[in-house]
Amino acid sequence: MEFRTIIEPFRIKSVETIKTTTEEQRKKAIAEAGYNVFLLHADDVLIDLLTDSGTGAMSSAQWGALMQGDESYAGSRSYYRFRDAVQDLTRFKHVIPTHQGRAAERILFHTILHAGDVVPNNNHFDTTRANVEVEGAEARDLVIPEGRVPGLLHPFKGNMDLPALEETLGKDGARVPLVMVTVTNNSGGGQPVSLENLRGVRALCDRFQKPFFLDACRFAENAYLVKRREKGQEGRTPKEIAREMFSLADGCTMSAKKDGLANIGGFLAMNDDAWAEKARNLLILTEGFPTYGGLAGYDLEAIARGLEEVVEEPYLHYRIRSIEYLAEKLESARVPMIRPPGGHAVYLDARGLLPHIPPLQYPGVALVNALYEVAGIRGVEIGTVMFGLRPDGTEQPGPMDLVRLAFPRRVYTQSHVDYVAEAVLEVAKNAGNLRGYRIVEAPRALRHFTARFAPLGP
Ligand SMILES: Cc1ncc(COP(=O)(O)O)c(C=O)c1O
Repeated sequence: MEFRTIIEPFRIKSVETIKTTTEEQRKKAIAEAGYNVFLLHADDVLIDLLTDSGTGAMSSAQWGALMQGDESYAGSRSYYRFRDAVQDLTRFKHVIPTHQGRAAERILFHTILHAGDVVPNNNHFDTTRANVEVEGAEARDLVIPEGRVPGLLHPFKGNMDLPALEETLGKDGARVPLVMVTVTNNSGGGQPVSLENLRGVRALCDRFQKPFFLDACRFAENAYLVKRREKGQEGRTPKEIAREMFSLADGCTMSAKKDGLANIGGFLAMNDDAWAEKARNLLILTEGFPTYGGLAGYDLEAIARGLEEVVEEPYLHYRIRSIEYLAEKLESARVPMIRPPGGHAVYLDARGLLPHIPPLQYPGVALVNALYEVAGIRGVEIGTVMFGLRPDGTEQPGPMDLVRLAFPRRVYTQSHVDYVAEAVLEVAKNAGNLRGYRIVEAPRALRHFTARFAPLGP
């Protein structure tokens, strides 16, 4: 018999108390934080869905592996174990550890980009975009048109628009040093990319002789969604699918804080010897010696073990099903959101829920703050605040105004998910009363992390 109840495929050995606060206390806390949930004290948050990055729970096997960490400066045993785990999945020749994903991006782009270059991607994540733009290059998003319409059903809304990529490579090919695809597509809603689409990108890269890199942060979730949604893939294991994904690429950037099931870490991996040599030289300058790259030996052990656990099917089933379950509850109450849900989060469509708040009054911030005030839940705006600032300092509406509720891996239980559903429904019921915000102060880059806001009058 197939049971409908989703159970966590683990039992709990150690618990961490979460603090309950009153709505009054939360209203005070968010005002003091300049109405930016990034500036809250985490102790004032009940259910923290700010990010799935580095917030997961490690297994007892990972905690055990920490004690195996070899802290040798050079040639550490833990590095070789880490390298072998990465190569078991990716087969890439060079594996360069970094302290997190953005360090891998920084090193890759600083190694290969020149001002005026173009980097095509389905959707650049914010740090990826910033690391491209800081080199004076253009981060060009080429996700399929369906990927830009939140409510439209499509199994692979993270797919690259292949005709658009072909056009970019045809017109601007001389300025394109590599093509990237982000799996799953975080900025576009955690949406998967099909194997068929990755094969299409590979074929174009072969034709135009361009290297192809994956932003592989959520490769295992992508592999499981391929298994669930792509014809002909249902009989394969997530690991087999993941291996095929990597086999289509020439390299990857990776934040091990996601599908590495670790609290810190990342890597850059590739086949090209010349790029790898340059990257290692830069690594030594900013991260550390090539066999530790800014990580402790015990971090490398935790990641190595995490990469093995993350492709286990019972884990991926529970993870993806509990996100789907939340989405189903919200959908049945007609809360607008990205459909179908992606791998690591539910993305509420704040622009759809709050049509009375124009994008430049940040409907995503209004929804995030309401969820915090009402229920102590912390989500994050992925919209005009995150993507609306142009390099020249002017503002435009972001492509969408979303609120991401990202689930840390193996941290919350099914009743936490029920609580979140109840809270979202409560906020949605009173959506008409929410107000927009204005920015009081903000930096010129990555402003969503530190901007301070003020609520607009009724
Ligand atoms: C798709 C994607 N790429 C890159 C990164 C950057 O990784 P890190 O936070 O480890 O620097 C993230 C982090 O959220 C991400 O989601």
